[in-house]
Amino acid sequence: RSTDPRISVIGTGYLGATHAVCMAELGFDVTGVDIDAGRIRRLSAGEVPFYEPGLEALLRKNLEAGRLTFTGSLAEAVERADVHFVCVGTPQQPDSGAADLRHVEAAVSGLITAGLGPGDLVVGKSTVPAGTATRLAAKLAAGVPGAELAWNPEFLREGFAVDDTLRPDRLVFGVAPEGTAERRLRAVYAQMIGDGVPVVVTDHTTAELVKVAANAFLATKISFINAMAEVCEATGGDVVELASALAHDARIGRRFLQAGIGFGGGCLPKDIRAFQARADELGVGRALTFLGEVDAVNIRARARAVALAREALGGSPANRTVGVLGAAFKPNSDDIRDSPALEVAEALRRAGAHVSVYDPAAAENARACHPNLCFADSVVGAVAGAEVVLVLTEWHEFRELDPAVLRPHVARPIVIDGRGALDPQRWRTAGWTYRALGRPRR
Ligand code: UDX
Repeated sequence: RSTDPRISVIGTGYLGATHAVCMAELGFDVTGVDIDAGRIRRLSAGEVPFYEPGLEALLRKNLEAGRLTFTGSLAEAVERADVHFVCVGTPQQPDSGAADLRHVEAAVSGLITAGLGPGDLVVGKSTVPAGTATRLAAKLAAGVPGAELAWNPEFLREGFAVDDTLRPDRLVFGVAPEGTAERRLRAVYAQMIGDGVPVVVTDHTTAELVKVAANAFLATKISFINAMAEVCEATGGDVVELASALAHDARIGRRFLQAGIGFGGGCLPKDIRAFQARADELGVGRALTFLGEVDAVNIRARARAVALAREALGGSPANRTVGVLGAAFKPNSDDIRDSPALEVAEALRRAGAHVSVYDPAAAENARACHPNLCFADSVVGAVAGAEVVLVLTEWHEFRELDPAVLRPHVARPIVIDGRGALDPQRWRTAGWTYRALGRPRR
């Protein structure tokens, strides 16, 4: 199929590695590019450098089929491909919270100097502040007359990255009015479009905004229910029953109403801060002041879990033994970026507790960043002798725990369910004191 788009993917982090593999899976020739030589080596050897169910098998399959190669050279990508996806990171700047765009800028400049041609299409996938694509389009037009830029945000969730990429809820194409980008993106995604995935074609800025608005909405939904949990605590209400009653209203829906220690990860926290910073720059900061509250409720959820643990210990955590189940920011992930679980564990350790943590996938990453926490190899190892146990990531393995089996291993049977992962009745029947944010103390 010589008319098929030939694809390069710049940046092989979470987003880029998944996108490259999935594009190859669709049958295209794909070149993945990264400045990190170690990453290129591992991906070329068929090894995914992070935990993502199903991705490694697809990587190997497509490497073997000869459709997928990885390189450190942008010049090679420019030579081999004509559609270039930019999937580099946009981290949070430490002071302002604004997005750091240096990798995105470097990718586009790099493509220009590597010899991008007039017929080439550059497609941004990274999450960027509104206005970035328009600026990059001008830079590209000045550098390579005839080359085009489109914005095609990515909504994949960690843990479901392959499925979300191959079967997205929607495709958003932000394009300039009179170009070829829409036609070419339709060719890239022809199979999904044929399967009925809806396409929204819009301008650059709206496409950028869809992504940040979606994440802002999701974050708001989580903080809304966590705010209700605070009210439940003050009134004796039950946030889980409240959420399930709310969910019957189809306008509200049941998803993202799980109260607990709040959202973390590499996207939601940084994206709502970058969105506020951008709104401030644009002079519409007031429109997004509520996101500051969303952030505050979220941070408070972590502190409330720490307070519950203190209370369970009858005061100071100093020299007390605490078992923590979960380190990843969510289950089915080894990602510990801005992990609420680790922040709660660290706060208890700083207050003097002996904290032992178990996580089925994220322990290695957690150990590297939190050298003062102890890590156990099993649930039993983490809770041995504990005076309170906290469940802080809702891994399936923790949901399935038998409280009766666990009980003899702890010093005092008190469990704090930070994620609404456990059945309170079952734990209470087995002799445990069950506590959760926003739930009554029966
Ligand atoms: C998110 C968006 O869902 C995705 O569309 C976007 O592209 C990237 O950011 P991800 O960071 O992988 O994806 O995680 P997500 O599943 O959205 O969970 C984010 C955080 O919210 C996790 O810490 C999770 O534990 C928490 N969460 C989620 C809740 O606390 N309550 C909920 O009801 C749902």
